[in-house]
Amino acid sequence: MDSQSLDIILFGATSFVGKITTQYLLTEVGLGRDVKWAIAGRSLGKLKQLKTELGPEADALPLIVADSSDSNSLTKMCQQARVILSTVGPYALYGESLIEACVNNGNDYCDLTGEAYWIKKMLDKYQLRAQKTGARIVNCCGFDSIPSDLGVYFLQNISQQTSGSPCNEVKLRVKAIKGGVSGGTVASGIEMAKAAKKDPALRRKMGNPYLLCQSQRPSIKQPRILKPTFDKDFKAWTAPFIMEAINSRIVLRSNSLKQHNSSNSFTYGEAVLTGRGRKGYLRAWAVTLGLGGFAIASKNKFLRYLIQTFLLPKPGQGPNPQQQLNGFFDLRIMGKNNQQTITVKVTGDRDPGYGCTAKMLSQAGLCMAFDMSRSELPGGFWTPSTAMNNKLIGRLIASAGMTFEAIES
Ligand SMILES: NC(=O)c1ccc[n+]([C@@H]2O[C@H](COP(=O)([O-])OP(=O)(O)OC[C@H]3O[C@@H](n4cnc5c(N)ncnc54)[C@H](OP(=O)(O)O)[C@@H]3O)[C@@H](O)[C@H]2O)c1
Repeated sequence: MDSQSLDIILFGATSFVGKITTQYLLTEVGLGRDVKWAIAGRSLGKLKQLKTELGPEADALPLIVADSSDSNSLTKMCQQARVILSTVGPYALYGESLIEACVNNGNDYCDLTGEAYWIKKMLDKYQLRAQKTGARIVNCCGFDSIPSDLGVYFLQNISQQTSGSPCNEVKLRVKAIKGGVSGGTVASGIEMAKAAKKDPALRRKMGNPYLLCQSQRPSIKQPRILKPTFDKDFKAWTAPFIMEAINSRIVLRSNSLKQHNSSNSFTYGEAVLTGRGRKGYLRAWAVTLGLGGFAIASKNKFLRYLIQTFLLPKPGQGPNPQQQLNGFFDLRIMGKNNQQTITVKVTGDRDPGYGCTAKMLSQAGLCMAFDMSRSELPGGFWTPSTAMNNKLIGRLIASAGMTFEAIES
């Protein structure tokens, strides 16, 4: 293949979420039309099998063999396309060599990591070089953290337009959600728990909400819901939200990059709404205890073995097509500025982590390839909202079954 003759390569196409992403791209952009794309993975046999499963429509889909442990193969892959999408995880185990290849070669890159400590490591190690080569690196282009990051961006735009200033106090509440997990997501969560247990300094770093911000740690305390708490604004009970740890770090990084608010006055937190009255309170305890139990179990070797072996999906497994179709999410983001309270609603029409994530990652890749000129967005590490702003919101509404709208508070 000629140098950078492709627009996009999806690396990790044979992963659970990679297969769904390949199917979506095939339906959405097809083959032999405007978008030139290919799929890549470490096993030619698995790539061929995926192509067969996709049927005759996929006959012309190019296959590329590349392995995270072979940097030459990654360099060759990067030389063939402008944008690389990666679903090869856990990223802390297999992700660095691809970031290095993209940064050296000046590629654009989007992934699905939720591993904040790994993003921090990559940022510290490769930011300067990415700025020099023009490589634009955008982590967290799935359910974590596109709805949160673009939802807050959408809310702040409304605030600026209607009040002339951004909201200082912003909170996201999960109103309703239905979906499952895959083995790859479980493996990434367990990898994070293992890394935190092994290294107390890393554990302290992981607890810092400003981990991904460049500026000094501001004095303002970020709100965290760690146990059942009544939310007066939503008039309902809330429980901890599992994605809060990564989403809040991405939103705070976007805020620090955009300098929307002085970081000493901006607060952001996420939680799940569990309802009103006694039922809401009991549900909040059920969610809290479930999450707490998983956190404790993932730190203990024996319990980890038991839940991984008997309870949770293995790598390559995840929710079935019907579960993906029946899944959805409905998020509410409320912000307060000096004059008013604004609420926006962000929804997705498939299960968040797979059906919706595959569409978000694909549209992020297309947005980087076709909408973001180099003069508009220079090289470096970006968040979804600071990289792709309204252009990605437009794509997600038009082609990914998502909605972003202002609603009555
Ligand atoms: N942000 C979100 O909302 C979101 C949602 C879903 C998933 N995720 C993340 O996405 C990642 C993938 O999840 P998943 O469930 O799809 O995982 P999975 O099915 O376990 O797949 C992992 C993939 O990594 C590939 N791989 C492993 N070692 C490799 C190497 N040395 N070189 C090249 N490829 C290698 C595997 O290749 P083979 O196919 O050849 O075995 C497989 O395709 C995870 O990190 C997960 O946490 C994030």
